[in-house]
Amino acid sequence: MNAPRQAPQKLALPGVRDVVAVASGKGGVGKSTVALGLALALKQEGAKVGLLDADIYGPSQGLMLGVGEGHRPKTIDSQRFEPMHVLGLQCMSMSFLTSERTPMVWRAPMATSALRQLLGQTAWDDLDVLIVDMPPGTGDIQLTMAQNAPVSGAVIVTTPQEVALIDARKGIEMFRKVGIPVLGIIENMSVFVCPDSGKAYPLFGEGGGTRLAAEYEAPLLAQLPLVPGLGEGFAAGQTASSAATQFAQAAATLCASLSSEADLARGPTISIQDD
Ligand SMILES: Nc1ncnc2c1ncn2[C@@H]1O[C@H](COP(=O)(O)OP(=O)(O)OP(=O)(O)O)[C@@H](O)[C@H]1O
Ligand SMILES: [Mg+2]
Repeated sequence: MNAPRQAPQKLALPGVRDVVAVASGKGGVGKSTVALGLALALKQEGAKVGLLDADIYGPSQGLMLGVGEGHRPKTIDSQRFEPMHVLGLQCMSMSFLTSERTPMVWRAPMATSALRQLLGQTAWDDLDVLIVDMPPGTGDIQLTMAQNAPVSGAVIVTTPQEVALIDARKGIEMFRKVGIPVLGIIENMSVFVCPDSGKAYPLFGEGGGTRLAAEYEAPLLAQLPLVPGLGEGFAAGQTASSAATQFAQAAATLCASLSSEADLARGPTISIQDD
């Protein structure tokens, strides 16, 4: 008879209080851009923040953070990586360890093992929040992350149109299956504001993020406008004010829900007093 299947052991992350996965079933909706913008806004809120690029096959944080080839994380006692300190964040990405011309041709088990190492063998230093930039899809890597990492909650990124919502729902369902709460929805590329007239154009339709948030009773954390050069602007310390306001609002709501999740996990405190 087969032994009962054991639930995978959660990795212990001693230097990290909360892990927040930034995800969506769909590719190209802005997960990496939102992950970095949100990490920077949480730092502005006073939190100590880390950023893990979990996209093993197509890491993009190195480029956005402006970490060029040749800058590699140091190792500590030949066991662990020291995270790279960029823009006030503790960062780790496969792109720090490979060159742009190194294709990742690993099979899924190798990729998931690489991710476990990036996550667990990085010496995160006393982080309030570790933001994890998830790869697109709901396959092995995403499931490994959801099952093996002590994820406090997920932030789901979507664009407003129905095709994106369909994949975002798959992403949400994956987290729900493994008991990870959805902390909020971020609608990206909501509108394009014409610089000449100031008029807002909803290029990809309207109301998608609001509908998804209502469907899953999760807060709509932000509606980010289309801002040319948004991703490239972070490293230069330039975030358009329309986007910065939305990131700040999302970070404040996220901080509040993380602390209320923590209160729930702690449970009530019963104090006993003699009359
Ligand atoms: N609000 C925005 N305004 C303008 N450009 C944006 C915005 N959000 C994302 N982009 C751009 O869209 C492209 C895709 O964004 P990004 O890489 O963040 O998506 P992703 O969901 O992480 O993609 P992947 O699924 O490949 O990991 C990038 O070129 C990024 O700069
Ligand atoms: Mg990405």
